[in-house]
Amino acid sequence: MNGMKDWFLLDPNMTFLNHGSFGACSKPVFENYQEWQRILENQPVQFMTDHVYSALNDSRIALCDFVGCDEDELIFFPNSTTAVTNVLYNLDLKSGDEVLMSNHEYGALVRAWTMYGKKMNVKIIQQEIPIPLTTEEKFIADFWKGVTLQTKVIFLSQITSSTALIFPIEKIIKMAKKRHILTIIDGAHIPAHMPLNIHELGCDFFTGACHKWLCGPKGSSFLFVKKEHQGWIKPLVVSWGKNGDDPTPSEFLQDFNWQVTRDMSAFLTMPTAIDFYQKEIRSNQGTCRKIIQDAHSEFQAVLNTEPISTGGTWLGQMAAQPLPDQTPPDLKEKLWNDYQIEIPLFEWNNQRYIRISIQVYNTQKDVDLLMSALRSLI
Ligand SMILES: Cc1ncc(COP(=O)(O)O)c(C=O)c1O
Repeated sequence: MNGMKDWFLLDPNMTFLNHGSFGACSKPVFENYQEWQRILENQPVQFMTDHVYSALNDSRIALCDFVGCDEDELIFFPNSTTAVTNVLYNLDLKSGDEVLMSNHEYGALVRAWTMYGKKMNVKIIQQEIPIPLTTEEKFIADFWKGVTLQTKVIFLSQITSSTALIFPIEKIIKMAKKRHILTIIDGAHIPAHMPLNIHELGCDFFTGACHKWLCGPKGSSFLFVKKEHQGWIKPLVVSWGKNGDDPTPSEFLQDFNWQVTRDMSAFLTMPTAIDFYQKEIRSNQGTCRKIIQDAHSEFQAVLNTEPISTGGTWLGQMAAQPLPDQTPPDLKEKLWNDYQIEIPLFEWNNQRYIRISIQVYNTQKDVDLLMSALRSLI
């Protein structure tokens, strides 16, 4: 994996262990992104009224193929929060209905749901999934305890943010379907992190970020909407839609493709991002996972805290570990100022955590530096 760093724009003087937050764009994809911006500015009118639609089409088809859905079931969004927000304000829930999520969900989206819940008098329930996570059966049983006759929607991450855990969601989606509960999956971390086939997963809605593990430009994300729901999912910003220039026969795509004047260059890079992933990233991911499994064990030895999972299939290319009580409050600043290590610390469930991400540009040396810094600082 040595030399992979050269493919990225990251400052070579820092140790970057935070791919999970905002990703890092590879050089070929960034060049493609800028190329689209130049094409746009070369003839803005022709591009925005004509050329952009075929380019969007090509990019969407490549992405649909990559994530396992039909080419008219996916729309681009700049990020997962806008994608989920667009779904929740289209829901037709009644006062007293319930939305069930875990207590590991992404903070911004918990806020979004909570605000919606207050406005609509809908109960937002954050079901506790006790840690450490051990077996799939226990995880499902713990989550399903939150389901009641009022549960109308399940909102669940496939990989969680602060706790960095892979949730086995397949059976929960099947169980929800039997009870006519809508499933909205937050897969922000999934594309190019885990194999993804949305049709096989069977959920109603799925959002994924392409600027994280697919290494696309910031602002490239998507929302999958199952065909049967496309009639009632409308954009929050209503624009030209079927009265515009978009030649597609799908009213759903027309509604979402043109959402006022904006730079769609990030959306157009998907064929290049997928190609880069297939050629340069995929074959190195096994090494990344091995480094994470080892780091998960080493965290326990260095920090002397209990792990939040048994490792193994709960982990992909990230791992989070509770920090001990004696951790200095300015640990993050010290890691950056003294060691040039970029790594996030989170508070979750009244406990501080450190979360490591390993992407193909990282090596074991980066983890060694982190562990030796933690030994000195804590
Ligand atoms: C689990 C999860 N969901 C959603 C998001 C999306 O955040 P944003 O909409 O700001 O890109 C993130 C970002 O880190 C995340 O970790």
